Amino acid sequence: MKIAFFDAKPYDKPSFDKYGEMNGIVFKYFETKLTEDTVGLAEGFDGVCVFVNDTVNAAVIDRLCEMNVRVVALRCAGFNNVDMKYAFGRIHVLRVPAYSPYAVAEHALALLLTSVRRIHKAFIRTRDYNFSLAGMTGFDLHGKTVGVIGTGRIGRVFIDICRGFGMRVLAYDKFPAADLDNGDTIRYVSLDELFRDSDIISLHCPLTEETYHIIDEVSLEKCKRGVVLLNTSRGALVDAEALLTAIKSRKVGAACLDVYEEESEFFFEDYSGHILDDDTLARLISMPNVIVTSHQAFLTEEALANIAATTVDNLLSFFANGQCPNELCYRCSGAEDCKTGKCF
Ligand code: NAI
Repeated sequence: MKIAFFDAKPYDKPSFDKYGEMNGIVFKYFETKLTEDTVGLAEGFDGVCVFVNDTVNAAVIDRLCEMNVRVVALRCAGFNNVDMKYAFGRIHVLRVPAYSPYAVAEHALALLLTSVRRIHKAFIRTRDYNFSLAGMTGFDLHGKTVGVIGTGRIGRVFIDICRGFGMRVLAYDKFPAADLDNGDTIRYVSLDELFRDSDIISLHCPLTEETYHIIDEVSLEKCKRGVVLLNTSRGALVDAEALLTAIKSRKVGAACLDVYEEESEFFFEDYSGHILDDDTLARLISMPNVIVTSHQAFLTEEALANIAATTVDNLLSFFANGQCPNELCYRCSGAEDCKTGKCF
């Protein structure tokens, strides 16, 4: 089996080569992203393996079908970059639903601690033998209220970690989990209540039409003054312009962003010798109370191994049985009760 692997990075190859070789799958690595311009590279392959910023739109799907490419294997959980409605009935789409919720939740907490205890500032200061503490006052997480939007795999691990710090949790989910709300330290509330009462807000829901710009001018207005915003989920959950305005007006006390709406052009690449052609991102990065990491939350050894192992299992299962438990379709969109691939 031959798979065209798009947006390949050096850290992808060891684990994919290992699991591929063990199972007779040859991955051909392309550094370029999958787009309408690059889709021709998939000619002669059985499938494509793509990541978060590859484009799987109608035109790309049509071209893949013309070339008899049968499967799109996402090596990630989110699938907002795939036109699932168009893919339905045309090409099979597989994904890795979970590879390490700990990796993402721990990164969110790392960003939060870095921000509120000014570790990013201290690191630079002490390297310059500047041992002054001026401007370094942080705040305790203990006793603070954290609002968690999306209480799936990652959101729940994040909640566990926050509880370990002694934080009170206000949760919001379109499909609340039956066993999470304890009526005391963890409570499901309305979005408005979450915005109103949270000192920290962390986003762990998928990007959908409903959640697009869930953090915008209107919702930010409802928040506490000085709220800390964490986004390790998807960039377009946050209206970056509105965030910038709220930071300037001091409504938002700090923002920690692992994702950005227009990230596909910049993230994962080295632009250090260039003038950044995105004023909003450049302005956000220039703020002392904003920390940006470039979609790095997933990047742990454990997650990389799990991603490769599950992607290989998905491909083996699909090509052996024509079905895969991790297949997505337009109707179910990955819902828990519909992961059989039979609805394709
Ligand atoms: P999950 O599917 O286990 O949980 C998502 C939760 O969001 C579910 O409980 C679902 O009911 C809820 N939800 C769906 N629609 C909602 C809405 N309109 N409002 C509120 N909640 C809603 O997904 P998981 O594994 O926890 O991942 C969450 C997100 O994290 C992914 O969608 C992905 O975008 C992001 N992610 C980011 C990574 C990174 O490296 N920064 C890596 C992996 C995932």
